[in-house]
Amino acid sequence: MKVLGIDIGASGVKGAIVDTETGTLLSERLRLETPAKSTPGAVAKTVKELTGLLRWKDGVIGVGFPAIVKRGTALSAANIDKSWIGASITDELSRSTNCPVIALNDADAAGIAAMEFGGGKGEDGVVMFLTIGSGIGSALFYDGELVPNTELGHLHFAGMVAEHYASNNARKKFDLSWEEWGTRFNNYLKHIDRLFTPDLVLLGGGVSKKYEKYEQYFNVKMNVRPAELKNDAGIIGAAFYAQKKMQRRKFK
Ligand code: BGC
Repeated sequence: MKVLGIDIGASGVKGAIVDTETGTLLSERLRLETPAKSTPGAVAKTVKELTGLLRWKDGVIGVGFPAIVKRGTALSAANIDKSWIGASITDELSRSTNCPVIALNDADAAGIAAMEFGGGKGEDGVVMFLTIGSGIGSALFYDGELVPNTELGHLHFAGMVAEHYASNNARKKFDLSWEEWGTRFNNYLKHIDRLFTPDLVLLGGGVSKKYEKYEQYFNVKMNVRPAELKNDAGIIGAAFYAQKKMQRRKFK
């Protein structure tokens, strides 16, 4: 089935039409800047523009959103305008695009794609997907089933919120070398290991493409590796999840 997948992030709104059977992109992948003041109205306008550019009409849209998402509503806003808290993502975006919208947390979306089509395929036990970008997003799976909205970038760690210590933004903000940042991320991974004992940790987000620059600074016992789908994971996972949700609704 064809579904439009959209990944809303702190700096960019990315989208493409996805074949949800194979997890491949059926259109080019477009990226628009996230509005500087990323209020519901402004983001809805950007999503409408992206939908128009991809000539998407009436069909289902799956949206990954950088916050806690419950029943289509944002319940937090660490990396997006605070006015989203309590706002319905699905209502805002279906009104602006005239399409049915299903929303979920962005890391959950990217994690789902990694489990279905990427490095997590066929992996059971406890799998932790961590996406490293402006923040740190997490998706936790047990035998392939997602536990949504885990928010492990917000663990308090080393005297601060973990994503302020070890995200890619933190690397840039504190001007950390790969060794310094890799050591910080390793400390964070050790904490994750102590709390969850994952069988596998998959790393996603832009910085996972540069894995060879910092993997030598990791000395955790658990199995850690990049998630493979890189930048498209959020788009593919959002589309895949939306298709599954719609199917379930049809049979209810
Ligand atoms: C948010 C998460 C999100 C992550 C990555 C965090 O600041 O709280 O919901 O998944 O950033 O965008």
